[in-house]
Amino acid sequence: MEKIIVKGVNQLRGEVNISSAKNSILPIIAATILCPERVVINNAPMLEDVEVICKLLNELNCDVNISSINNKLTIDTKNITSMDPDAQLIRKMRASFLIMGPMISRFGYCKLSLPGGCNIGSRPIDLHLKGFKLLGADIMIGHGFVEVKAKKLIGNTIYLDFPSVGATENIIMASVLAEGTTIIENAAEEPEIWDLAQFLNKMGADIEGAGLGKITIHGVKSLKGISYTPIYDRIEAGTFMIGAAITNGKIKINGVNEEHLRPVIEKLKECGVVFSDYKNNSIIVDGTGEKKPVDIKTLPYPGFPTDMQAQMMSLLSIVDGVSVITETVFENRFMHVAELQRMGANIKIDGRTAIIEGVPKLTGCQVKATDLRAGAAMILSGLIAEGQTEIGDIYHIDRGYVQIEKKFRNLGADIYRIDS
Ligand code: UD1
Repeated sequence: MEKIIVKGVNQLRGEVNISSAKNSILPIIAATILCPERVVINNAPMLEDVEVICKLLNELNCDVNISSINNKLTIDTKNITSMDPDAQLIRKMRASFLIMGPMISRFGYCKLSLPGGCNIGSRPIDLHLKGFKLLGADIMIGHGFVEVKAKKLIGNTIYLDFPSVGATENIIMASVLAEGTTIIENAAEEPEIWDLAQFLNKMGADIEGAGLGKITIHGVKSLKGISYTPIYDRIEAGTFMIGAAITNGKIKINGVNEEHLRPVIEKLKECGVVFSDYKNNSIIVDGTGEKKPVDIKTLPYPGFPTDMQAQMMSLLSIVDGVSVITETVFENRFMHVAELQRMGANIKIDGRTAIIEGVPKLTGCQVKATDLRAGAAMILSGLIAEGQTEIGDIYHIDRGYVQIEKKFRNLGADIYRIDS
C-alpha cells in the first residue's frame, strides 16, 4: 500500500506546470466512440481515471495507444464489438457511464453496470436516463445494470432539474448524431462541457451554446477523426493556488485559464491572496500576506466548485477567525473534516454547513484520502502541519492528479511516496 509522507513547514516557491483537465479528457475519450476513425488526444494527463476509461475502451475492442513519452493518446473505435463491458471497470469510476450516450448513439444499444466513483453522495443517474428517454430510448434497470435500447434517436427538448455535468455531457453525446435538433435547458455550464463541444464540433458536430445554460445540438450524419488538445485542469491549478496560500509562499502557475478559475481566484483574493502577471496562461500567486476568513457556498459553475471545497477548508482551518462553508452540490462531501480534526482543526458540521474556527497550527499525524479532492486537502494541510503527515488511501489522489508529490517537491515541499 502506497502512502504519501509530507513534512511541514516549507513555503512554496518556483513554478508548476498544470496538466490537461481530467474532467475534459474523460468525456472526450468517451466521445471517440461516436466516430469510427482515428482520434488523437494531445497532452493527455496520465491518471488512474484515464487508464480506467482506456481499459474500458479496450474491453469494447477499441484500439487505444498511450504514448507516455509525448502524452499522446491515439484511439480507434472502428472495431467495437462488445456492448456489455466489464462491470468492475464501470463501478470503479462514475465517469465510465459517459460511454452510454455515445454507445446508444452509434449502436442503438448498451448495457452497463450502475456506476461507482468517489463516495461523496448517492450520485444518481436519473437525469442522464431522462435525457436518453426523451431522445426515444427504452430503459431497463435491474440486477445492478442499466440497459438502454434505441432503434433511432430523435432530437427533443430536455430540461434538467439540476445542471448535472455528466448528464449534460451524456445527452450532448447521445444527440450529436440524432435526427433533428436537441435542446438542453438548465444545462451545466462547466468549462469542460465547452471543451467537449469544441472537440465534437471539430469532428463535424453542430453544437451551439455549450458553456451556457441552453445548448442546441443539430444532429449530423457522421463525424471525422481529428487531433485535439484539451483545456488545462482548473482544479489542479486551484489546488496549487491554495498550496501557495497555505504555506505563505509565492509561485508561478503555468497552464491557467483565469476565466475558468474566476470563482476560486475571487475567493482567494477575498482571503488575502494576491494574483498578478496573468499572461500566456501563466499567473503569479502571492500567498505571503495576512489571510482573512471567508464564507463559501459550492454551486454549479460559475459558482465556487465543489471540487475545490476540501482544499479551501484546509486553508481556512488555519486562518484566524470563523469561516463557513456550505456544500450544495453533493450531500456527503465533508468526509475530510474528520481527518482535518485529527490534525487539530476546529470544525463543526451542521447538515450541509461546516463552521471552521481557525487554529494557530495543525499537527501531522496519520490520515486518509477519503476521496480525490479530500486527498489533495490532506497534502495541503500536511504542508503546514507541525511534524510528519502520513496519508493513506492515496489511490484516490492518483485518480485525478498527475505526479502530485513531484510537482509539490519541485516547489520546495518535503513530500514523497513510500510503499509500506
Ligand atoms: C462531475 C465531475 C466531478 C464534479 C461534479 C460537480 C467529471 C468526470 N466529474 O461529476 O469532478 O465534482 O461534476 O461539479 O466531470 N445528479 C442527480 N442526477 C443525475 C446526475 C447528477 O441527481 O442524473 C446530482 C448528483 O447526485 C450530485 C449533483 O447532481 O448531487 C452533481 O452531479 P454531476 O454534476 O452530475 O456530477 P458528475 O458529472 O458526476
